[in-house]
Amino acid sequence: MLVNLNKVLPAARKNKYAVGAFNFSNLELAQAIVQAADALGAPVVIQTSEGAIEYGGMEYLAAIGHVAAQIHEKIPVVLHLDHGRDPALVEKAIKSGWYTSVMIDVSNLAYAENVRITSRIVEMAHERGMSVESELGPILGVEDKLRSTEAAFTDPKQVKQFIADTKCDALAISVGTAHGLIKYPRGVTPKIDIARLEEIAAISSIPLVLHGASCVPHVLLERIHEKCETLNDCSRAHDAVGVPEDQIQRAIAAGISKINVDSDIRLAFTGAVRQELMTDTDITDPRKLIGPGRDAVQQMVSDRIKLFGWK
Ligand code: G3H
Ligand code: 13P
Ligand code: ZN
Repeated sequence: MLVNLNKVLPAARKNKYAVGAFNFSNLELAQAIVQAADALGAPVVIQTSEGAIEYGGMEYLAAIGHVAAQIHEKIPVVLHLDHGRDPALVEKAIKSGWYTSVMIDVSNLAYAENVRITSRIVEMAHERGMSVESELGPILGVEDKLRSTEAAFTDPKQVKQFIADTKCDALAISVGTAHGLIKYPRGVTPKIDIARLEEIAAISSIPLVLHGASCVPHVLLERIHEKCETLNDCSRAHDAVGVPEDQIQRAIAAGISKINVDSDIRLAFTGAVRQELMTDTDITDPRKLIGPGRDAVQQMVSDRIKLFGWK
């Protein structure tokens, strides 16, 4: 059943679990995510980034999302636009009527500009029964040398006013995570600023969202590394470091209600497909290559939904 964020996040907030929000850009990833959620009877957010839309097309991806929600009618499924940075694209997603929720992410702009653009999007989305996630304090990535530094962390003093000014439904905050596989530079201990998060949670009247939350577990990395010597392309993966599981659990206890995961999906999928390619060079049927990727993603998503406290 397709719903918006307001149908799933308040219960998560009240009962101290987080709803998993997983990125997809093709049929197999969408299937893996909703099948994992359905097997656990869990609510789930399936989301497409601007890049995913560029790759797959909004119409194709939205159609996949709708069919997934129809087939898995017993669980609440939110079809969400992730990191809408271009207001024109966010407007297109709203007007299309396909999405049930959008994120407007102009947190890189000055506060007043962020408020101006976000509140306009909120008005437009609310008229159509859609929810809006916004971002205060940019969540960057270390891969492009734009590491989320403390200077960019969400300022608790701005939170109450931002929510009042924009009327958004969920708020993504920057508290020490980063997008991508390499979240912390070498020698830096992976850590979420829990004190800041608690302070924000005490102020915020709406559910909070944690981005850049992939754990980048060893077991997935090892699958990628296994064939490293042959492929000679794993220098980036060797530096990979994610958010430790215990930090994720502390963040949920401190007040996070939605958790975004994409990098772990990429890792799980690529590791499994790479194994197939390297172990059986006779395979030419794409289904035989991609199918194991889908299974690996389903397992990983299931692990995350449980880690996020769904029982
Ligand atoms: O938040 C970021 C997601 O990982 C999206 O990544 O823009 O490469 O699709 P992408
Ligand atoms: P990861 O790169 O940690 O998976 O974060 C994904 C994300 O925040 C998508 O919005
Ligand atoms: Zn994100």
